[in-house]
Amino acid sequence: MNTSIENGSVCVEWTDGSKSSFLGSWLRDHDPCAIHHTTKQRQSDSLSMVRSESGAACTPTEAWVEDASLPDSKVWVRWGAPMDLHDGSTQAPTVTGFEADWLDEYTRGGGHATDAHADSSFAAAERGPQLWGGMFGAPPTDDEIRAQALDADAFMADDAVLAEALRQLRVTGFCLVEGVEQTQSGTTAHIERIGHMRRTVYSDGIWDTAVRDPESDEIFDTAYTNMELKPHTDCTYYRDTPALQFFNCEQASTDTTGGQTVLVDGFAVAASLRRTDPDVFDFFSQTPLLFHCIEPNAHLEVLAPVFDVDARTGRLKQFRLNNDDRAPLHPHQHPDIDLDLFYRRYLPVLLERTRDLSMSAEVRLEPGMMLVINNLRVMHGRRAFEGSTRNMIGGYMNLDEYESRCRLLGIPSDISFDLSELDGAQ
Ligand SMILES: [Fe+2]
Repeated sequence: MNTSIENGSVCVEWTDGSKSSFLGSWLRDHDPCAIHHTTKQRQSDSLSMVRSESGAACTPTEAWVEDASLPDSKVWVRWGAPMDLHDGSTQAPTVTGFEADWLDEYTRGGGHATDAHADSSFAAAERGPQLWGGMFGAPPTDDEIRAQALDADAFMADDAVLAEALRQLRVTGFCLVEGVEQTQSGTTAHIERIGHMRRTVYSDGIWDTAVRDPESDEIFDTAYTNMELKPHTDCTYYRDTPALQFFNCEQASTDTTGGQTVLVDGFAVAASLRRTDPDVFDFFSQTPLLFHCIEPNAHLEVLAPVFDVDARTGRLKQFRLNNDDRAPLHPHQHPDIDLDLFYRRYLPVLLERTRDLSMSAEVRLEPGMMLVINNLRVMHGRRAFEGSTRNMIGGYMNLDEYESRCRLLGIPSDISFDLSELDGAQ
């Protein structure tokens, strides 16, 4: 490795002959001497750094490399002036060392160099989200879903099994854990193996879907009946929609012909429409719709698209749809929507695709089976059933909690899907 200074940047020529250039201000902003060793918080003020006299605190004056053959080889930089730290009593020194591996990671765009937990063995051979159903291949059968089930005790005790559950959530959008205690406390313990539960309008955390007395006042949702539930995602009316949804089967339906849980890959719905009916895809990715939840003590509303595509990256981040919770379409609020086209084409084509049997997986949950679903991607539904015994104990979790656990385990956490991946495969 060789180094030089050019126009305020430190230039590094790597051993393979490639070259990288690091702006002095960027390097000084990430000076390891000013990053707290445990919290990783910056201990310097970026404003005073760049406003220092003549910018000297972030101007490299000399750069060199110690023995490049060392595994922890560093690029050393001398600065034009010391840099003030928050406590005022100390200054970052005028010479600091940057680990060559860390700089190399940034050069290659890996972006994982600052992840303190990125070295785990679980990160090997990772696959991103794989779409399923319809044109993307047959959805998994009941037997296939059960065959992938993870043991609950191992899920609690073994990080490798927990990592596998999180990996399945990323790849297919759901996973099954078998042998979970059929109580609220047992369910809570397994949910909190991943992270904190999410409070919602339904409960402080844990909830259940036991069939309520149809004459009572407590039926606030069709979930508390034995009626069919069409595939949908939950909590569409929350700006920060819960990412994970947990269903621990406390009791199955005595009606053996009904009560199956239905799963549909919402990302596959979006991607298939993008290919077969691009005008429908464009409408639902570009036109926000209003979703609402009205209960005695809450009135939630969110205006959001069904397909949330990141404008910068083109990645599909969220599928959001519960047609029962779609708020009235006020023409004066949506002058851009052609209502005739909406009801004649866009809405029916979308709903038909979500109910297409070639897109649907079905699994009959039995006591102790806990299904975990990525609610930002996979729709769930339920076949109608007779009687009132079927009950699921459940809870929600925010995306932050899932991503945090993934990072702690050293596995990829991004559950979004790059739609352009499919462009070459038509
Ligand atoms: Fe639901």
